Amino acid sequence: MKALILSGGKGTRLRPLTFTTAKQLIPVANKPILGYVLDQTSQAGIEDTAIIIAPETGGFVKDYVKDGSSWGIRVEYITQEPLGLAHAVKTAKHFLNNDSFVMCLGDNLLGEGINKLVEKFNREKLDALILLKKVENPGAFGVAVLDENGNVVKLIEKPKQPPSNLALVGVYIFSPRIHEAIERIKPSWRNELEITDAIQELIDMGCNVKSEILNAWWLDTGKKDDILTANSIVLDEYIKYEICGSVDNQSKITGRVKIEKGSVIVNSIIRGPVAIGENSYIENSFIGPHTSIGNNTKIFESSIEHCVILDNTQVREIERLEDSLLGKDVKVSKNNKGRGALRLMIGDYSEIEV
Ligand code: TTP
Repeated sequence: MKALILSGGKGTRLRPLTFTTAKQLIPVANKPILGYVLDQTSQAGIEDTAIIIAPETGGFVKDYVKDGSSWGIRVEYITQEPLGLAHAVKTAKHFLNNDSFVMCLGDNLLGEGINKLVEKFNREKLDALILLKKVENPGAFGVAVLDENGNVVKLIEKPKQPPSNLALVGVYIFSPRIHEAIERIKPSWRNELEITDAIQELIDMGCNVKSEILNAWWLDTGKKDDILTANSIVLDEYIKYEICGSVDNQSKITGRVKIEKGSVIVNSIIRGPVAIGENSYIENSFIGPHTSIGNNTKIFESSIEHCVILDNTQVREIERLEDSLLGKDVKVSKNNKGRGALRLMIGDYSEIEV
């Protein structure tokens, strides 16, 4: 089995961050989302991996994943114009050949691995196995209708009147018959080759299409608040108390806090779960729960909670910074007029005074 990881797309909902990075590289708990996806495919024993990249942001993805050896996998990069998930499969046909493959979205996080899914696909000799999750707002997703045996009988993209609450999570396993189905479909109203149409075509061709319902959490990190939620959940699940930097006697660290090497904490309170990267400096500040702070950041006289702050960013004299996503090389400082909480989404290289 091979893996196809989709890391292309436009990422318009995460602009301006996606002008200077790929959205799949935005870190949660200081690790790019794509890294967690590769953890899961490699843990399922899949070595041959292709990563779909966009012409604009593909270089950033290559810089991060390189040859894949950090995950013990082999990686090939395939550049694609974002014309739909089925179009991505079509573009990768030379790599996929006649093998079955797992397809994962590079900006989706799952609370459990995919090993069980791969086993079920192989055991039951399926043509497609799709992962579903019960959601409260199925109209926002691709939705599946199942028969009593768990076979998928129908798929509808963003239905106005959802026939079920089972949304398609961005993990699919396909036999090579998917290529035949993709050849038969036409672009949708948004001019994309939709994977839901291709799976529907598989069903209509009489193929064996089954589903598995995910009981763990699923996070699609397409927007700012999704990133903050993902960051909170991943900090809650994975962060352990680990102090590699230096903390002075005036500072207080409580809960699960990870501080990487070279970082210095002076006269501050850090209340976990919190992740702080390398070579950052925090002075006279409060860092509250569910916050991730990247490398080489500087924070002075500020109070920060439920935020994701990327590398090389500076925050000065901000009384309450909450629910915010700050890009790289951002400066936020006080101009001594405004008071109260701030809610921000700032792109890389922005400079803001409040
Ligand atoms: P989306 O989030 O649906 O699309 P997008 O990245 O263009 O984002 P936005 O709506 O904000 O403009 O894509 C889901 C995942 O699939 C994401 O990781 C990007 C990837 N993708 C591709 O690799 N190729 C494609 O043609 C498309 C549509 C998405």
